Amino acid sequence: MNVLKRCIYGISITSLAFLNIQCKGNQKEENKANTTQKMDSVSIEKKEYGTTPAGQKVDVYTLKNQKGMEVNIMTYGGIITSLKVPNKAGVSEEVVIGFNNLEQYTKANPYFGALIGRFGNRIAKGKFTLDGKEYKLATNNDANALHGGPEGFHRVIWTAEEAKGGDNASLKLKYVSKDMEEGYPGNLTVFVTYTLNNDNSLDVLYEATTDKKTIVNLTQHSYFNLSSDFAKPILDHEITIDADKLVPVDAALIPTGKLTDVTNTPFDFRRAKTVGKDIEAKDDQIKKGLGYDHCWVLNNQDKGERFAASAYDPTSGRLLEVFTDQPGIQFYSGNFLDGTLPMRNGGTYAHRTGFCLETQHYPDAPNQKDFPSTVLNPGENYKTKTTFKFSVK
Ligand code: GLA
Repeated sequence: MNVLKRCIYGISITSLAFLNIQCKGNQKEENKANTTQKMDSVSIEKKEYGTTPAGQKVDVYTLKNQKGMEVNIMTYGGIITSLKVPNKAGVSEEVVIGFNNLEQYTKANPYFGALIGRFGNRIAKGKFTLDGKEYKLATNNDANALHGGPEGFHRVIWTAEEAKGGDNASLKLKYVSKDMEEGYPGNLTVFVTYTLNNDNSLDVLYEATTDKKTIVNLTQHSYFNLSSDFAKPILDHEITIDADKLVPVDAALIPTGKLTDVTNTPFDFRRAKTVGKDIEAKDDQIKKGLGYDHCWVLNNQDKGERFAASAYDPTSGRLLEVFTDQPGIQFYSGNFLDGTLPMRNGGTYAHRTGFCLETQHYPDAPNQKDFPSTVLNPGENYKTKTTFKFSVK
């Protein structure tokens, strides 16, 4: 190599090294920019919401992402008071039933937006037996116990802890249910973590441990109306439920113990069907539920968290998909809404203006030996997750 060539070679190596340093520097800058952007992509804000008649302070947390989704959760009942998601024109609007003040939530209402526990759905005669000992629960649905009893988790104050990751915002709620509260054995420590992601999904992670053998079946009781027009019934929503079987009930909505095939019945939602299509069908189960108020036996129970159900409102284009690791889902078509409870901005919530998709174990499981068990032992971790994912089509 002559001197000139050697010189050029030397300069090139130096410049390459320099360029390399420059590039690495730029990359670092870029990474930093991404992280900053990610950190800003979600936000959480805390505000005082009010004071209960018993004098307890209640806060409300607003979780927002960058895709137009916003959820308000209060520490009373872990209730989702508001959930806004975009329609197909990109306009974010309210999609859950709710009130505009705490006082209204503390009065009797059908679990609007609430966390349900210690046991979602009905327990026949409010009784069950564990290791030969019979437990008597607080009853609130004629002779039966419904949704954890009159003073269930929907009416207690949860403590809250905020967390913010790059792409999501979480609110971790905690409640310690005392031994024999509402008749249930064992001190139960419960965590429910709501996480808003930047793909317009809301995860609900339920965790619990006990110091005495007990039963647990937690769920979320939001009433959706994807049209955002709460004066309009949800009958045009198209529902799918990935279930071949149903948990049929008696006149008191207590399971008969059998599981029946949905084929050729109004309960077949394996292909999208409007809520209204068969809701008035001459069918014994429809009659008993006054419409849909049943638990479906979800398919693929060995697959962990998987698709369970969806709801689509053609007018707004909003699609809600529900994923869960639970064996069942209660689809309730708002049959007991009767025009007595106030809407946020005037008017009242009329018959079937909201629907619930409550992921859970089957009703009355503690008294049904063939249903998957809801028993929780000391040393075990109850852990289950449900995701509500919104999009448009
Ligand atoms: C659940 C029950 C219904 C009704 C509603 C609230 O979905 O299964 O029967 O109690 O909650 O009214």
